Amino acid sequence: MVKQAWWQRGVIYQIYPRSFNDTSGNGIGDLQGIIAKLDYLNDGTPDSLGIDAIWISPFYPSSMADFGYDVSDYCDVDPLFGDLAAFDRLVAEAHRRGIKVIIDYVPNHSSDRHPWFVESRSSRANPKRDWYIWRDPRPDGGLPNNWGSAFGGPAWSWDEGSGQYYLHQFLKEQPELNWRNPQLRAAMMEVLRFWLERGVDGFRMDVVSMIVKDAELRDNPPDPQADPALPPNEIYRRQLHLYNEDQNEVHGILRDFRRLLANYQDRCLIGEVLDYGLSRWVRYYGPDGSELHLPFNFRLMKQPWRAQVIRSSVDELEVILLPFAWPNYVLGSHDVPRLASRLAPAQARVAAMLLLTLRGTPTLYYGDELGLENGLIPSDKLQDPQGLRLGAQRSRDPARTPMQWDGGPQAGFSVAQPWLPVSADYRVRNVAAQSADPSSLLNLYRRLLWYRRARPCLQGGSYRALDAGSNDCFLYLREHPSQRCLVALNFSGRVRHLTIPRETGGVVVISTYLDREETVSLASLALRPHEGVIVKLD
Ligand code: NOJ
Repeated sequence: MVKQAWWQRGVIYQIYPRSFNDTSGNGIGDLQGIIAKLDYLNDGTPDSLGIDAIWISPFYPSSMADFGYDVSDYCDVDPLFGDLAAFDRLVAEAHRRGIKVIIDYVPNHSSDRHPWFVESRSSRANPKRDWYIWRDPRPDGGLPNNWGSAFGGPAWSWDEGSGQYYLHQFLKEQPELNWRNPQLRAAMMEVLRFWLERGVDGFRMDVVSMIVKDAELRDNPPDPQADPALPPNEIYRRQLHLYNEDQNEVHGILRDFRRLLANYQDRCLIGEVLDYGLSRWVRYYGPDGSELHLPFNFRLMKQPWRAQVIRSSVDELEVILLPFAWPNYVLGSHDVPRLASRLAPAQARVAAMLLLTLRGTPTLYYGDELGLENGLIPSDKLQDPQGLRLGAQRSRDPARTPMQWDGGPQAGFSVAQPWLPVSADYRVRNVAAQSADPSSLLNLYRRLLWYRRARPCLQGGSYRALDAGSNDCFLYLREHPSQRCLVALNFSGRVRHLTIPRETGGVVVISTYLDREETVSLASLALRPHEGVIVKLD
C-alpha cells in the first residue's frame, strides 16, 4: 500500500481566528491565542483533541468588511491578530507538536483598500487598471452585464473618479482580481511563495472556482429552479452561474499552483469549489491529479440527514473518484449554520463518528467538538455583511460565536466584551466541563481521533457500504491488508437490529455512548437510539 501523505491520513481543524481565543484583551481572537491553545489541539497525548492540521481563516490586514475575506495586504498580519513574528512563532510551535498549518488564500478578490486597487481605480491609464475587472456601461447606459453579488444586489459598482464599473461578486469592498492579466497572476504567485517560504504546509483557496470569468462577460441565464419567493436583490441566486464561475481556464491556473508547490516538500492545496454537480466538481482534482489535492466536499452538509441519503452521497463519490483522487468531507464551517443545530442534538455524536471514520480527510470546525449550537445574536449585534444585507436569517454570525473554554466570564475566550456574544449555554457547554465528563461529546471526539490515528484501516483502508436490514442505519466496512473494521450508525431515535452479511462477530471498540467495549455477534447487532459503533473485525 502506498504511503499516505499527511493531508490524507490526518484530520484538519478549522479555526476562525476572531472567535478562537483572545489574548490581547480586545474581544477579538488572535494568533497568540491560537498558540496558547495548541496543546488543547494536540499535545501528543489522548487528553488532547488529536487533530493533525489547523486551517486558519484569514488574518491578513483588512478593513474587515467581510471579516478578513477582504484582504488589503496579502503578505502581512492584521494588527488585530498580531504580526508576522507571531505568525512565525505559531508555525514553529505548531510544527513542534507535529501540527501542520494551512492558511486561507483569497485569490478571487482583494479589499478595495488594497494598494493594487487604489492604484487601479486612480485612472484608466494606470498600469494596474487591468489587475481588476473594469467595464463601460452598456450602450443604453445599463450595467455591463446581469450578474449578481452573492451578498445581494448587482455585481457591479460605479467608480465616479474613473468613470467605469468594476466587478465584485461579493461586497463592493471586494473588487475581483483579473486572473487573465499576467502581471496580476505573477503577483499572486509571489504571495504563495512568500508563505511557502515562511513554512506553511498548505493553502485553502477561497472560492477558487470563481477566479476566472467568461472572456466576454456574457449574461447568465435565469435558473428555472430558483425559488420564486427570493427577494428582488437576490440576483445571484436567481441565475445559473454559467459565465461567472467554473470556467475551463481555471484548471490551468490550478496546475500552475501545483507546479509552484512542487518546489517545496509535502505541501497541500485545498480549494473551495462551489456546487456545480459532482461531475464538474471532480474535475478540480485534474485529469491526472495535477490540480487540487482536496476540492472541499460540502455534499454531506447539504443533504437531508437520513441514513440512506448520506450513504448515497458517499457511494456516489466513491464511484466517481479515480484512484489518485483522495476524498474529503466537511460537516461544518464559518459559512453555514452549526452542525449541532442542523441535526437533532443526539445525532451530533453520530455525525462525529461518521466524519472521522469515512474514507477521506475530515475537516472539523472549531467548537463542533463541543456541540456548539447556533448562537442567538440580537439584531443590534449583527455583524455579518451577508446578514445585514440579506436579512438576519442569512447571517453567518450564529456559527461564529466565541469558543467556549470554561464556565468563567466570557467563557474564558476574552477578558473583554467579545465581538459576538458568547452563547448562553457556555456555563455547561465548554472545554473544561466536557473534559471532566467522561461521556461528553468532546471526549467522544478525542476517542475517535486517537483511535483513528492508530488504525491504518480508518486512515487509508477501503470503503464498502453494507445492507443490513434497516433503512435507518448506515453501515460500512473499512478494510486494510492488516486489519478491518465495521462502522454502524443509527440515524434514528429507535433501537435497530442489524444482520451483517458474511460476518459473524467482532469487538465494539467505541460506541458513541462511550459506555461499552464488548464482543458482539454480527448475526444480530443491536444499536440503541442514535448510537454509532466501531466494531473491530477478526
Ligand atoms: C467564501 C468564504 O468562506 C466566505 O466566508 C466569504 O464571505 C466569501 N468566500 C467571500 O470571500
